[in-house]
Amino acid sequence: MKKSVLMLIAVFITASVMMFTAGAEEKNALTGKAAFVASKCTVCHKIERVCGQVDEKNADQWAVTVKRMASKGTGISEPDQKQIVDFLSSPVERTALCPD
Ligand code: HEC
Repeated sequence: MKKSVLMLIAVFITASVMMFTAGAEEKNALTGKAAFVASKCTVCHKIERVCGQVDEKNADQWAVTVKRMASKGTGISEPDQKQIVDFLSSPVERTALCPD
């Protein structure tokens, strides 16, 4: 009886540690520019809204969209807008945020 209680506690602790580690990994999945763009563009909608269009918009079109998003009162500065546009129109860079 005592043994099975200890076993249960051990299983519980292992599961908690595993869950904690998995959560931490997910949080750290985005780094650098991808994390920066996500932080600016997921305030009001999911990143899918952005990623769903990366194959359709070129840099000029992204510039228009990002400017429009910035005008919604988000205070995304002009230099930030440029970084976001560069990131979203680069197929290599954006895979960190929008995997194919
Ligand atoms: C202040 C809230 C807000 C923020 C921040 C925001 N968006 Fe949006 N976005 C919206 C709303 C609301 C819509 C739907 C209505 C519309 O299209 O204006 C939308 C729609 C979109 C669309 C689909 C419509 C289109 O024009 O293609 C894209 C793409 C998009 N957002 C990209 C972005 C990107 C990229 C960023 C980061 C630079 C961003 N959004 C940040 C509010 C926001």
